[in-house]
Amino acid sequence: LASIEVDVSAVEEGQSITVKWRGKPVFIRYRTAAEIEEAKAVPLGDLPDKFARNANLPDTADASDANRAAAGKEEWLVQVGICTHLGCVPLGDAGDFGGWFCPCHGSHYDTAGRIRRGPAPENLLVPPYEFVGDTTIKIG
Ligand code: FES
Repeated sequence: LASIEVDVSAVEEGQSITVKWRGKPVFIRYRTAAEIEEAKAVPLGDLPDKFARNANLPDTADASDANRAAAGKEEWLVQVGICTHLGCVPLGDAGDFGGWFCPCHGSHYDTAGRIRRGPAPENLLVPPYEFVGDTTIKIG
């Protein structure tokens, strides 16, 4: 299927689900206020990858938290769950930055899915998606 619709009404704050889209895992996370604040507090200059890597925005969009999160729904983060180093699937709620950790070679991603330390060159990719209802996300 080129696109899928996901009902996220059962996902609670602080929880994530993983769905399959075009054979790839996609992480959908309902972020806590603390996670959002943590991501917003990071100076852009501290980020190894300065770009949002968000398929819904221009390639030049910066990696601010707002450009990583869902438009108008900053508590939601939707990203392809494939490490940008060599393609392992990172673990959630892990790593030194409160986000994801890739155990293959030690890449740490933060609460906005941005690479913070380790060999991965880019932030986790944000796929094309939109909210088509209050709690329904269409990916692709
Ligand atoms: Fe994730 Fe190498 S594949 S750190």
